[in-house]
Amino acid sequence: MVFDSDPMLKVINVVGARPNFMKVAPIVAAMKQRPGKFLSLVVHTGQHYDAAMSDSFFRDLELPEPDTHLGVGSGSHAAQTAAVMERFEPVVLQEKPDWVLVVGDVNSTLACALVCVKLGIKVAHVEAGLRSRDRTMPEEINRLLTDQIADLLLTPSEDAGANLRAEGVPADRIRFVGNVMIDSLLQNLERARRSRVKTELGVADADYAVLTLHRPSNVDEPETFARILSALESIAEKLPVIFPVHPRTRKTIAELGLSDRVAAIKRLRLIDPLGYLDFLNLYSGARLVLTDSGGIQEETTALGIPCVTLRENTERPITVELGTNVVVGTDTARIVTVATAAMNGSARRTASQPPLWDGHTSERILAALEQVSLNP
Ligand code: UD1
Repeated sequence: MVFDSDPMLKVINVVGARPNFMKVAPIVAAMKQRPGKFLSLVVHTGQHYDAAMSDSFFRDLELPEPDTHLGVGSGSHAAQTAAVMERFEPVVLQEKPDWVLVVGDVNSTLACALVCVKLGIKVAHVEAGLRSRDRTMPEEINRLLTDQIADLLLTPSEDAGANLRAEGVPADRIRFVGNVMIDSLLQNLERARRSRVKTELGVADADYAVLTLHRPSNVDEPETFARILSALESIAEKLPVIFPVHPRTRKTIAELGLSDRVAAIKRLRLIDPLGYLDFLNLYSGARLVLTDSGGIQEETTALGIPCVTLRENTERPITVELGTNVVVGTDTARIVTVATAAMNGSARRTASQPPLWDGHTSERILAALEQVSLNP
């Protein structure tokens, strides 16, 4: 039971990289609606810093300007993680929050959680419990370690809770709250309809595919990238493919000497990374989406858009079980077969949503924070 006299909770909400912004925005908005209960601060680590990877998301998602910007920037995993830790520690010492809330699985997530556990500051991890079981994936290490040290594990799906329990996490640290990214998606669908991105690109609904690609295991590996390009050569003959290019991928296309080969795929359109609303507008009109992103597997499931995941595994199995996702790996023939089936309409377009992907996850997160604070 929560009473008006309950003490206010001061929460530092951490953002660092592009996939964090749409998870934190609805949580911060919900906290701002309850000023007597929550004092919310936003700390941006600066892991992502390009306007197209960061600023435009603050605007689109109406996320308040960060109270503190750590300005960390790019670097090796060790250098980036260490820099976030060094710069975050004095902020925590100064602010003395009741909670630090971290989201997802990027280096900033682990770095900030690690600072807090050593200082005895409570950490809540949103999107806890997801597991790809692929330890070559840097995000899997971030997930495993963050979940080991966080005080409150807020899970998006029932499989995530089962993973945590199987790892020996006590049940009282786990709360099934649903998928907070879907809060952002549902809150912004209407505004995204006003985007002019399809007109600007000259594409009509269902007449194009969308591609995103940025995992090091795909774009930093010449042979894997080449297999994916072979598939795209075939797919783009049947359907134009719009490809907003992540900065990592733009760099490796040049470094691996693939620029000419990519340019020769006539109906593969490379564009700059899009903001949240433009991208939502674009993929929601696509006939299919090809991706190696985690979040996009979920967003396509929420909207019933066929998704072809160019990875060997997924930490989001519910998108395959209930949703529209097919995990195809990086074999050329398999990508083409599955993408062609999706193009021809034989892929599953489901109306069934995973439980608690209902747009109310941020409210459940706040309730969990309050409840655990009252009964530690
Ligand atoms: C990071 C996350 C990944 C997430 C992805 C989403 C980790 C380990 N990885 O990967 O989980 O899916 O963000 O985008 O945390 N760069 C720029 N401008 C930027 C940011 C990056 O040019 O604003 C370039 C730099 O060359 C940098 C490279 O992209 O070295 C990689 O950036 P980094 O943050 O290390 O990893 P991502 O691949 O973006």
